[in-house]
Amino acid sequence: TPTHTHTNKPHSRWSDKQSKVLGDLAEEFSVSTSQLERLTTAFIDQMQAGLAGDQKSTDLAMIPTFVSGRPDGHERGSYLALDLGGTNLRVCLIALKGNNDFESHSKAFKVSDHLQEAHISELMDFIAISIRDFITSEHISSKIVEHPSGSETLELGFTFSFPVTQTAIDAGMLLRWTKGFSCPGAVGNDIVQLLQEALNRNEVNVHVAALVNDTVGTLLAHSYKHPNTFIGAIFGTGTNGAYVEDTRGIKTMTTPTTEEMIINIEWGNYDKDKRFLPVTIFDNKLDRESINPGVHVFEKMISGMYLGEITRNILLHLIDQRLLFDGTSSAKLNQHWSFETKYMSQIESDTSVTLIPIAQILEQDLGIYLNTQVDREIVKFVCQLVGKRAARLSAMATAAVIRRGLSVEGRLAGHGYPLKLSQGDHAIGSNVNKNGTNVHESTDSVVNQGLQPIHVGIDGSVFEHYPHFEERMVEGLTELLGPRTKDIVVLGIARDGSGVGAALAALIATKNVVYSR
Ligand code: GLC
Repeated sequence: TPTHTHTNKPHSRWSDKQSKVLGDLAEEFSVSTSQLERLTTAFIDQMQAGLAGDQKSTDLAMIPTFVSGRPDGHERGSYLALDLGGTNLRVCLIALKGNNDFESHSKAFKVSDHLQEAHISELMDFIAISIRDFITSEHISSKIVEHPSGSETLELGFTFSFPVTQTAIDAGMLLRWTKGFSCPGAVGNDIVQLLQEALNRNEVNVHVAALVNDTVGTLLAHSYKHPNTFIGAIFGTGTNGAYVEDTRGIKTMTTPTTEEMIINIEWGNYDKDKRFLPVTIFDNKLDRESINPGVHVFEKMISGMYLGEITRNILLHLIDQRLLFDGTSSAKLNQHWSFETKYMSQIESDTSVTLIPIAQILEQDLGIYLNTQVDREIVKFVCQLVGKRAARLSAMATAAVIRRGLSVEGRLAGHGYPLKLSQGDHAIGSNVNKNGTNVHESTDSVVNQGLQPIHVGIDGSVFEHYPHFEERMVEGLTELLGPRTKDIVVLGIARDGSGVGAALAALIATKNVVYSR
């Protein structure tokens, strides 16, 4: 039985019609515990199919990253790092200090709308020139005290937050663009080579040593501080996760030489055909009108690039039924993508009784006049529905990966796998069957002593700034993993994960580090 009530009760001040329509919306946007369960099971099956190379049965790319092993905080050295994945390009210099600590200097460069759709060589030239600008302005060469290779060339790790099929730690082909990018000339080509060529073209003496996804960077960075990290996740402009897998489980790789490898799941694409996800007409409308219809449907229900647009679609639907703003929209609100997710954050953080701040935000930025308390309440109610659903679906993906970890036996046994939840939980390893499905048996008899909590490194604006996101996620995780989840699974912010992670990947690549844990 679902333990969770995730629909807010429609308010007493609302008219019957308002209560009815909003009540129905609440129903549509709620994801019950049993729905979460079904989604989790299907997710785990799709992870398995992806690892087996059965692409027909899965929407999860499950990409081997060629990053084997995780740092433990002793690594030292200075590296350049690049982070590209949203509206900003960040260039960083990371000094890994070797005591689970690091220092970082960085500079952000705005990636204009034009660059997001320009030819890839133009984008890469922009990156190369930004790197040169950073090196010059920060006097980087003199700061690199302990240079890894002893040569003059600076080693760089590149966090590129798009789906890339890797063939080595420093080589990978772009599978498809996501999150609004569409630069021609990139899909099917090697991203490292494209960047290296641009660096050479612009006479920037930097060597691209490693390419990683942001989830992988986040996992590495978090592991540097918390060695028991098994998962890296992003809840930001987009969403995705990476985790540590036993290489014997990865059927798509021939002759793996290491025991473990980080897998980039690309979970944003989960259930792209909408067989399991509780998509609404508002999601379908958004998907259809997006730059990449029919893919990354899960991401479109969760991440910062899209939540505002779902909300805008709902608000318009209510306006058109004269249930909101007296039936009047504004020129701005009528525009695609005009209702940004940051407004939802602001609206959800307004806990005043009058909700006047909400009216002010909408008036200033969107030209909407909310004259009544009911209007303001409805706007907040809608944001809560969309925000809660996003957090619960995020919990689902995270729980699925943890359950996968619970069921991984074999070479990594004793190196942290299979993950075990502690005594008293109903999702202890022994209660997870071969498919990774939680069978909810009583587990009081199972005792696990001295187990370390599992750390999940998380980065992204939604997780960091969206009100109640983490709390709602933990609630969903607890429904899926048991009542003591909070003591056992530690969600931690890996701020700057992409930068530090890229530096660590560059270190792993240049020092040819092979870990055996
Ligand atoms: C998108 C990208 C993925 C990235 C995620 C988070 O889903 O495809 O590679 O990790 O966004 O930035």
